[in-house]
Amino acid sequence: MAQTILVTGSSSGFGRLTVETLARQGHTVFAGMRAIAGKNAVVAAELRTLAEREQLALHPVEIDVTDDASVEQAVAAVVEAAGRIDVVVNNAGVSYSGPLEAFTTEQAQQQFDTNVFSVLRVNRAALPHMRQQGSGLLLQIGSIVGRVAQPFMGLYGATKFALEGLTETYHQELAPFGIDVAIIEPGTFPTSVATNRQVAVDTERTAPYQSAINTFMRAFFAELGSTTPPDPQDVADAVANIIAQPNGQRPLHTVVATPIQRQAPLAINAVVARETSAFQEALKQNTKKR
Ligand SMILES: NC(=O)c1ccc[n+]([C@@H]2O[C@H](COP(=O)([O-])OP(=O)(O)OC[C@H]3O[C@@H](n4cnc5c(N)ncnc54)[C@H](OP(=O)(O)O)[C@@H]3O)[C@@H](O)[C@H]2O)c1
Repeated sequence: MAQTILVTGSSSGFGRLTVETLARQGHTVFAGMRAIAGKNAVVAAELRTLAEREQLALHPVEIDVTDDASVEQAVAAVVEAAGRIDVVVNNAGVSYSGPLEAFTTEQAQQQFDTNVFSVLRVNRAALPHMRQQGSGLLLQIGSIVGRVAQPFMGLYGATKFALEGLTETYHQELAPFGIDVAIIEPGTFPTSVATNRQVAVDTERTAPYQSAINTFMRAFFAELGSTTPPDPQDVADAVANIIAQPNGQRPLHTVVATPIQRQAPLAINAVVARETSAFQEALKQNTKKR
């Protein structure tokens, strides 16, 4: 069934592929991006041209996920235009790299603002509509480093760990309202994330780690240099696949990564799922006894 979908960070990478994929499947898609009349004007124009050429319901919409008013306006614009909002794909994000001690507090705040507070903002704006509809889907783009901590990606990883906690909590809180929640955990993919990457500003503090940073980065991003690097379309397809599943039956976690990168997050997801329900069951039994 065709859904009304808002995707944040649609100007490049997974976001752009996702909006094109979903629109071609017949959904009404709002391609959220910031600076629609500025640095992203060309992308917005390309999406409008594509929509016209292929007769797609694909509409660029202004959204800066770090700005409360912008987020509220974007969600209001979607609801005004389509009369509802069925799915939010929280995709916008940026990656900060470097040893933890070399980041300023301001950098840490910026990293969390774009990757975590953004998700709380967008979901807060969308949820009253979804609760009223009695259905909806909040879909976060996490990362394998939000499941398996890695050096020199710790600040970025912490934002994705935070998304795991938020996603699991949303899931528990929103199930009674018929609202689904899910998170996709991609491995490394060749998008603009590398060119958009911010590095820790304190170069003096970074210097003693430099050799270890080089060694880790070579190993972690090795797949990107292969003759068949992972295809970012796989993530767009995973988003589409989750949206296509019936309400209440969607998987909470979906890993999209090469065999080397997916083994640990899959194992961790299984343990978390098992132990979270065991914990909740134990609380229930304990309450019954009292
Ligand atoms: N590629 C990977 O290896 C990988 C792996 C795991 C997870 N991820 C996650 O996947 C998501 C998409 O990243 P990507 O790989 O597709 O990289 P990307 O091409 O750099 O896309 C990131 C998108 O986020 C947008 N964005 C950043 N700050 C924003 C803000 N304040 N307001 C609105 N949009 C904003 C960017 O817009 P502008 O063009 O305006 O900057 C861009 O469209 C991110 O959450 C990232 O952490 C990526």
